[in-house]
Amino acid sequence: MSRIDTAGTYRPGDRSVRRMGYGAMQLAGSGVFGPPRDREEAVAVLREAVASGVNHIDTSDYYGPHVTNEIIREALHPYPDDLVIVTKVGARRGEDASWLPALSPEDLTKAVHDNLRNLGRDAIEVVNFRSLHGGHSGPDEGSIGREVAVLAELQRKGLIRHIGLSNITAAQIREARTIAQIVCVQNFYNIARRDDDGLIDELDRDRIAYVPFFPLGGFTPSQSSDLSDVARRLDATPMQVALAWLLKRAPNILLIPGTSSRTHLRENLAAAELELPDDALAQLNGIGRPVPQPG
Ligand SMILES: NC(=O)c1ccc[n+]([C@@H]2O[C@H](COP(=O)([O-])OP(=O)(O)OC[C@H]3O[C@@H](n4cnc5c(N)ncnc54)[C@H](OP(=O)(O)O)[C@@H]3O)[C@@H](O)[C@H]2O)c1
Repeated sequence: MSRIDTAGTYRPGDRSVRRMGYGAMQLAGSGVFGPPRDREEAVAVLREAVASGVNHIDTSDYYGPHVTNEIIREALHPYPDDLVIVTKVGARRGEDASWLPALSPEDLTKAVHDNLRNLGRDAIEVVNFRSLHGGHSGPDEGSIGREVAVLAELQRKGLIRHIGLSNITAAQIREARTIAQIVCVQNFYNIARRDDDGLIDELDRDRIAYVPFFPLGGFTPSQSSDLSDVARRLDATPMQVALAWLLKRAPNILLIPGTSSRTHLRENLAAAELELPDDALAQLNGIGRPVPQPG
């Protein structure tokens, strides 16, 4: 029994994971490029996460590139049987740290092989296709059928166990589901960014996991007077309240907060045990709602 068991479990695919997981992007260097400032701490963060019960880690071979996966392997290989590592493909890094599309069948196949090699696995539990339609500003429409078909073929060959999608619209999810079973969706969502409210509920009905990226607000963690106020009242931190709110928001939400520090990791994992009373929840629910415009 681990303290994070309080948050419960969910089954993306055929393996159950604890809803409180960990996102490894912050383990690469500044701008998610090159080596981290403190590699020993990065290794220690991963080992402590797993020792604390985390069995869902999100990564990509384009973090670094390669760096994050190499650190995961150094820290955790041979992997515990229950550890689910989820990766994503669809981009590559330029020498100037830029994020470039890598969408051809050859690019996607190479990306899966890069993940397998650098993680030291024979198969990847879940591979998300990360769409770059819309760039970094949010998802935009456009067919993703060709890319999902490539992943489905790699799944048939046994290199991928399950397929997920990231930075994606409801129409693209529908398109992908005509080609392959989709077990999770990873989009930008947090207490202050609620564009996917309707989508989360739809996916919940279909038993598909929703994994918000930037759950704490991303590179600039969320700030709000309501968040700070509730945190003060509950003797918690604003980041813990933001995570507890996500856990409460829907049962299919899986958390992958990112951090490069064990201090922040401990703080974040403790959010699994934070109870939000109804009055706090009502106050927090108001944070991300659009303000009605006059006229
Ligand atoms: N699919 C996609 O397109 C996509 C995009 C972005 C991210 N992701 C995935 O989602 C995961 C989560 O996103 P993220 O890591 O970018 O953003 P995040 O979890 O919202 O926030 C991470 C940021 O918050 C800081 N932080 C973490 N815990 C904190 C705490 N308790 N108090 C104060 N600051 C804290 C971290 O700095 P410290 O290192 O100093 O703690 C870091 O700057 C990533 O790790 C990655 O796996 C996916």
